[in-house]
Order: sequence, then C-alpha cells, then structure tokens
Amino acid sequence: MSSVRTQVGIIGAGPAGLLLGHLLHLQGIESIILEDRSRAYVERRVRAGVLEAGAAELLRESGVGARMDREGMFHRGIYLQFAGARHHIDFVDLTGHGITIYGQQEVVKDLIAARLAWGGPLLFESEATAVREIEGDHPVICYRQGDEEGVIACDVVAACDGSHGIGRTVLAATSPRIYEREYTFGWLGILARTPPASEELIYAYHETGFALHSMRTPEISRLYLQVPADEDLKNWPERRIWAELRLRLGEPGLPSGEILDIGITPMRSLVAEPMQCGRLFVLGDAAHVVPPTGAKGMNLALADARDLAAALATWYRSGDRTALDAYSDACLRRVWQAEHFSAFMTNLLHLDAAHDPFQHRLRLAHLAYLTRSRAAAGSLAENYTSAATGLRAVGSLD
Ligand code: APR
Ligand code: PHB
Repeated sequence: MSSVRTQVGIIGAGPAGLLLGHLLHLQGIESIILEDRSRAYVERRVRAGVLEAGAAELLRESGVGARMDREGMFHRGIYLQFAGARHHIDFVDLTGHGITIYGQQEVVKDLIAARLAWGGPLLFESEATAVREIEGDHPVICYRQGDEEGVIACDVVAACDGSHGIGRTVLAATSPRIYEREYTFGWLGILARTPPASEELIYAYHETGFALHSMRTPEISRLYLQVPADEDLKNWPERRIWAELRLRLGEPGLPSGEILDIGITPMRSLVAEPMQCGRLFVLGDAAHVVPPTGAKGMNLALADARDLAAALATWYRSGDRTALDAYSDACLRRVWQAEHFSAFMTNLLHLDAAHDPFQHRLRLAHLAYLTRSRAAAGSLAENYTSAATGLRAVGSLD
C-alpha cells in the first residue's frame, strides 16, 4: 500500500476539482487530484456549456482562458420562444454582461492540460474509497488504482466528486440538512452535427413541452427536449426527435444531422447544508444540484473552487481560519440564489405532469411579462449572467 502526503487532497477531476487544484498551485499550495475515470472519458463527457461572465473572467485571470477566448462563442443574450413568437432578451443591454458558450469538457481539457504541463499530480482511474479523520487535524483519503490501494494524508480534503461521489456520503454522516426536490420530467439531450439554426440560445415553451436550442461550435448544435423523467430512449427514434425539435422550437427548417451523443438526464434540485465539516470541504455537484434550465451547474462549481482556494490561501499564509470557517455560508448565499433561479426557469418553461391548464396560462402570462417589462427582463438577465459567480450586477442594492 502506497502512502503519500500533500496539503490538499482533492477527489474528482470535474470543473470544481480541477479549478481548485489550479488555483491552489498558483498560490504555491500542493494538492493531489484523484479521478475515478480515465482522462479520455472525462475529456469526452458531454455536459453543460454556458459560462457566466464572472466564470469566464476567472478562467481568463488564472491563465486558462486562451482557448475559451478563441473558440468560445460570446452571446449577448437568449431568445424566449412561446405562443408562436420569438423574443430576444439582451443581457448586455440589461446588465452590461453577456455569457460565453464553451463546453464543460473543453474547460476540463484546458485545466487538465495546464496541470499536466507543470507535472501536477492528477491520478486517473483512481477511485477514492473512504475519507477518514475529518474531525481531527490529519484527515486521510483511501483510494484504489487498479489492484493497488493507496492512502493520501493531507491537511484538508476537498470533495469535488459530483452528485454520485463519496463526498456527499461522508458529509451526510455528519448530519447536514439535505433539501431536495425531484422533478417529474427530464431532458433528452443530443449533440448533433448540424449548424445552429439561431445565433443565440432558444428557450422554447410549447404545448407539447420544453425545448432548448444550444450549440458548441458553428457546426455543432446541442439540443434538448422535455421528456418524462423515466422515459425510455427507445421511444425516441431520430425522426421523432427532429420532428419534435422543429415543432417546439418553431424552426420548421431545422436541418437534421448526425447525432454524436444522446442521453436522458433526470432533473432535480438539492442542497446539502452546511457544505463542510471539520477538515472536509464539499464543492460543486457533490454539495448542490440544480436543474439545468438556469445553466448554473458548472458556474456554481467554479465559484466554489474560487472561494475555497482563496480561503485556503489565507489560512496557509496567516493561520487565520475565519474565511475557511465561513466557506459554506459564503457559498450557500450564491447557491440558494442559483437554486431559486433554476427552479424558477424550470417551472416557467416546462409542462407539469398534470398538464394543468391554469398553470399553463400563468406561464404564458409570465413569459409575456418578461418580454414587456424591462424590470422583469432585467431580473432574469441579472440571474442568468451572475447568480452563481456573484458578479455584482448593475442596479444591485448592495
Ligand atoms: N473517486 C474519484 N473520483 C470520483 C469519485 C471517486 N470516488 N466519484 C466521482 N468522481 C469523479 C467523477 O468521475 C467526475 O469526473 O468526480 C468528478 C466530478 O465531476 P463533475 O460531476 O463534473 O462535478 P463538478 O466538478 O462539481 O461540476 C459540476 O458538472 O454535472 C455537471 O451540471 C453539472 O455543470 C455541473 C458540473
Ligand atoms: C448547453 O449548452 O448544454 C446548455 C445551455 C443552457 C442550459 C443548459 C444546457 O440552460
């Protein structure tokens, strides 16, 4: 059994774990990152794709934004499509900030490349199996790499291992409050080789359900359809997917293209509170989950990493634990704001299981309000562009 020591033991090489390791390295703090999957797997996994202005700036400032600036697509706002018409919500006009479309796996690739360039320890196909002694000053992570078992002794454990990792399980044993909501629907998502039909994202509310038109490059579209949470992909042959997208998006000419990736993701909201216990700190999806309608998941993960890295840097530099002790409280303010916005967008744009006609009319009324009122549109824009990273929005009260 191998045994090593580091300052910060990080579980998970998603956006949260990789950015944390990167920011700690910039502060001269050592870390080891364990990742259960292979490098090829995490670099290929298709996930979210929207960066708030604050998240894009964070990547840029920390030296990993060059490819994002070259290949990412800057959008001024989004389109809302409902009742047969399309309306633009111009975030730049409303808040001074836009968004950047850049796939999560591209962020992951850039952060992995940056870490491997200086020889930073990043162990792929290494599964954390237990976390011990978090109440004392010398926590340990046990892990398995192939047939080998290993132990990492550290000062602090950062669980960045997503919604199915052991981080939440270890935290749960310390009795946090878990707030949770399941939705009766999920998203069928495809990545397709077809040029986007619109220059910016279209969020569509239709009598047959929600649809979203997003993109990755000028040749690749990312498209989603609301389906029942327990839907079987077998019910969705390609012809049906394209027909339903054309109908819901109001794009009768949307050209079909080769489907490069397909899957159904159930939706839920979850917050574990507090997000820390002793020497264990929990980040990203391991601590909180949002439905994807508000595009907040990756942004929250990056913001948690930014906040924990800053708190750890203060602690290592001066011994002052104040910011570290306040990590969870600082994150949860942003997290609940993003939870609220994500639930709001989800309820606004999806048909409920009962197809309640009253709810349907309320949604249409609110959507119409968003297109008529600068104050209502401004609130949506403020949340869409900065709820997760906490960038001060124009007109904010504090
Ligand atoms: N040991 C090591 N690694 C693990 C373990 C384990 N026991 N369990 C899970 N992992 C890894 C997963 O393989 C994954 O690569 O942890 C990583 C967690 O990464 P993400 O799921 O991307 O989570 P996070 O960094 O919090 O980013 C959140 O991901 O799912 C999206 O919508 C979500 O955009 C948001 C983002
Ligand atoms: C995506 O591009 O994958 C995407 C965009 C907006 C969302 C969710 C996902 O709200």
